[in-house]
Amino acid sequence: MRIIEVSDYKQMSEKAAQHVIGKVRSLDCMTLGLATGGTPQGLYGELIEDHHVNGTSYKGVKTFNLDEYIGLSKKDPNSYFQYMYTNLFSHIDISPDNTHIPSGTAADLGEECDRYENMMEEAGGIDLQILGIGANGHIGFNEPGTSFQSGTHIVELTPSTREANARYFSSLEEVPRKAITMGISSIMKSREILLLASGKSKQEALKKLMENEVSEHFPASILKEHPNVTIIADTDALKLI
Ligand code: PGA
Repeated sequence: MRIIEVSDYKQMSEKAAQHVIGKVRSLDCMTLGLATGGTPQGLYGELIEDHHVNGTSYKGVKTFNLDEYIGLSKKDPNSYFQYMYTNLFSHIDISPDNTHIPSGTAADLGEECDRYENMMEEAGGIDLQILGIGANGHIGFNEPGTSFQSGTHIVELTPSTREANARYFSSLEEVPRKAITMGISSIMKSREILLLASGKSKQEALKKLMENEVSEHFPASILKEHPNVTIIADTDALKLI
């Protein structure tokens, strides 16, 4: 794993954007794995600005998102579908047909997991996957204890994840209890991974990532076995390393 230290959230976002834009511009078509949450919001802002100023085109880009809440429809303001359209897709020239987010309202969720996994495979796999990291080491919504062999699957969200995400809802009670997420093996198949982390709340997670042994108790630890991972993190997040 390569670590790039930057001074703050803005620099993390800019550095990540440079990397993504370089990839998008160098490949005629590419598949980008996307994350939601507070961490990549600045990156998406930078991509939008660059699209407007420099004309980087996303016509040849396919995207696959990591996860979605179970039970929230595409119209729900807290769905990751809405997040992606608000924070990125509506502002760039990507074709909606090329964007993929697992459905949290499919009638048969098991079938939806298989469909999503197959679609990623048919697209030729993910060239570059963006990741955040949860305080408990989750990547996507793969909570501690998730099998490293897992493909796209349904998860029970831990109390700490629901509490961390309650800031987007009007109460903790409203935060869904389940989600559909790419699995650890789905993520590990990506050819390249860019993990972003900013702020004090990520200090412990990054320390454990660097120091702990590879274990399903700390899902992100598996990234140490991936041949092409870059961490872009700010000074606050890296303070314990
Ligand atoms: P955050 O979430 O970007 O909102 O901190 C990251 C995560 O939980 O994976």
